[in-house]
Amino acid sequence: MKVAGVPYRTLWTADGAVRVIDQSRLPFEFVTVDLRSLDDAARAIRTMVVRGAPLIGATAAHGLALAVREDPSDRSIEAASQALRATRPTAHNLAWALDRLRSALGTVAPAARADAAFREAAAICDEDVAQCRAIGEHGAAILRRLARPNPGRPLNVLTHCNAGWLACVDWGTALAPVYLAHDEGLALHVWVDETRPRNQGASLTAFELAAHGVPHTVIADNLGGHLMQQGRVDVVIVGSDRTTAAADVCNKVGTYLKALAAFDNGVPFYAALPASTIDWSIADGARIPIEERPARELTHLTGRTDGGELATVRVVPAGSPVLNLAFDVTPARLVTGLITERGTCPATRAGLLGLYPERRQDR
Ligand code: MRU
Repeated sequence: MKVAGVPYRTLWTADGAVRVIDQSRLPFEFVTVDLRSLDDAARAIRTMVVRGAPLIGATAAHGLALAVREDPSDRSIEAASQALRATRPTAHNLAWALDRLRSALGTVAPAARADAAFREAAAICDEDVAQCRAIGEHGAAILRRLARPNPGRPLNVLTHCNAGWLACVDWGTALAPVYLAHDEGLALHVWVDETRPRNQGASLTAFELAAHGVPHTVIADNLGGHLMQQGRVDVVIVGSDRTTAAADVCNKVGTYLKALAAFDNGVPFYAALPASTIDWSIADGARIPIEERPARELTHLTGRTDGGELATVRVVPAGSPVLNLAFDVTPARLVTGLITERGTCPATRAGLLGLYPERRQDR
């Protein structure tokens, strides 16, 4: 996608480093940062310089490649995988990417491992771009169908958190259908949940949609239910950090409340995700590890003052304890469908196996 007319991916290699967009500084500053070591990559994931399930996986793969470049031994690969795996516990793409790299390197002689690791990490990125584009095509067909009964007005899409190109390598998951449908000329408007506490909606989704010229409105997280009651939301599309084999969807905290409101109001609720997000080893969403993030993300807010300075202020009384759980699980029964790179399916185990028949042996 383009920023100020220049096409970008969220991660690429340059000058012997892995270069990423520093998302912790958006929307105020658009800067890149170079990752040159395993520690750089692990820190970037942990501190959310990079974030979003597919991008976490792509960065972890490159982090492992950086570690292999330093030391290609089995012991180093094992230690680097463990360090990267511990950075963020919820997004399945992280473990998926590390497992993929480790199995690609298993039969490679140590001297050839660094090249092989960077090649595999690049393949993960290229495949993610192709998969997100395919998700966009399948999702855009849904948007066109939903728009048909009301040709005179824009289709209202609500999304939570950031599941756009910044969360992936390009295109996005939940936002890919929006971009494709918009580019085809479908009139649409996006309600953007601010997504407290880190404000990925207000900071990142709004930034992306504005850069691409998609009409949108940022709303407080708590407004969505009211808008649905008023008939002002035609469809909800979110991403997923981990989807179980039974189609429960774990995504940014607050997603579940949107699904409940959508269910109560008969608004279709879709999750868009690539296969790398599906954890076939878990059937029950309650078994997904939910990340607890630092209290400071909830007690403090950063923004630009009217004077143009960046400032961080406390918004919670100093003595009040806080609980900052970063994800929740939406049970499959509240999800209208899953939009994947292979097409859209009902949010059921049978629906997923219809798209991924090769996983039948995992049952
Ligand atoms: O904590 P984050 O910003 O990494 O969380 C991101 C989300 O919850 C996205 O919706 C998710 O990764 C799915 S999308 C690509």
